[in-house]
Amino acid sequence: MTFTLITGASTGIGYEVAKRFYFHGHSLLLVARNAERLEALKREFPETQNQKIKTIAMDLSSPNAARLLFEQTQHNGWHVDTLINNAGFGTFGLFDETNLETLENMMHLNMVTLTALMHFFIKPMRAAKHGQVINIASTAAFQGIPKFSVYAASKAFVLHLSEALHVEYKNYGICVSAICPGATATQFATRAQMQNSKIFKPAVSATPEAVAALCYSTWKNRKAIAVHGIANRLLVFLSRFMPRTLNTKLAGKFVDV
Ligand SMILES: NC(=O)c1ccc[n+]([C@@H]2O[C@H](COP(=O)([O-])OP(=O)(O)OC[C@H]3O[C@@H](n4cnc5c(N)ncnc54)[C@H](OP(=O)(O)O)[C@@H]3O)[C@@H](O)[C@H]2O)c1
Repeated sequence: MTFTLITGASTGIGYEVAKRFYFHGHSLLLVARNAERLEALKREFPETQNQKIKTIAMDLSSPNAARLLFEQTQHNGWHVDTLINNAGFGTFGLFDETNLETLENMMHLNMVTLTALMHFFIKPMRAAKHGQVINIASTAAFQGIPKFSVYAASKAFVLHLSEALHVEYKNYGICVSAICPGATATQFATRAQMQNSKIFKPAVSATPEAVAALCYSTWKNRKAIAVHGIANRLLVFLSRFMPRTLNTKLAGKFVDV
C-alpha cells in the first residue's frame, strides 16, 4: 500500500495539507504528538477500499525519531511515495535569553529529523524510480532575522537542502520541493510567542488552506520552490537587490512584537 506521509498533521498547515491530499484520493500516514487529535482525524477522513488512513503519535524532536518512524513503515509494509516534512516550530526572543533546550529541540525537529526522514525514504523512492518530497521552509529562509535567528537559519537550511536535492534527484524520478509560506494564521505564532507581531495580524496573515493549496499544486507540477503570496514573492525578489545587512534589519523590524 502506498502512502503520503505528512508530519505535523494534527493542526495548522499540516492538517490542511492532509485534508487536501485526502480529497485527492491519497492514502495518508499522519504523524504528530497529539494522539487524540490524530484519532479525531481518522474519524474525519474515513477509509475506503482504496484509501487507507494510518496515524502514528510521535515526538519528532527526539533523537532517532526518523529511524523509528521509517522502521514502523517497513514493518507494516507501507510504501511512502510522497513525504511532506511539515512539522516545525519557531521561538522569538533574544538569542542568549532563549532556553537552549528549546533551541536544540527546534533544530532537531526543523533540520535533523527532516534530513533523516529524507535520507530514509528517498532510498526506496530511488529504487522505485518514483517519489516526491515537499519540505515546508518559510520566507524566513531568505535572510537572517534578529530575535528569530535560529528559526530563520533552520529554514535557510531547509531551503538550501531542498534546492540541492531537487537537482540531485531530478534524473532519478524523484522531485524534492520547498514551500515558503509567509505569516500564516495557525498556532505557530502562539507557540513562537509572536502573537503581537505585526506580521501575524489577521489582515496580513495567509490562511493555512491557501498554503495547503500551494503545497498541492507544487506537488502536482513538480516545482522546485514555491513562495506563497504575491507580496512575499515581491519581497523575496526585491531583497536580491538590497545589501544583506539591510534585509536583515528590515526583517527584524517586520517580525518584532
Ligand atoms: N504559521 C506560519 O506563519 C508559518 C510560516 C512559515 C512556515 N511555517 C512552517 O510551517 C510548518 C507548520 O507550521 P504551522 O504554522 O502549521 O504550525 P502549528 O499550527 O503550530 O502546527 C505545527 C504542527 O507540527 C506538529 N509538531 C510540532 N512539534 C512536533 C514534534 N516535536 N513532533 C511531532 N510533531 C510536532 C504539531 O503537532 P503536535 O503538537 O500534535 O505534535 C502540529 O501538527 C512549520 O514547519 C513552520 O515552521 C509556518
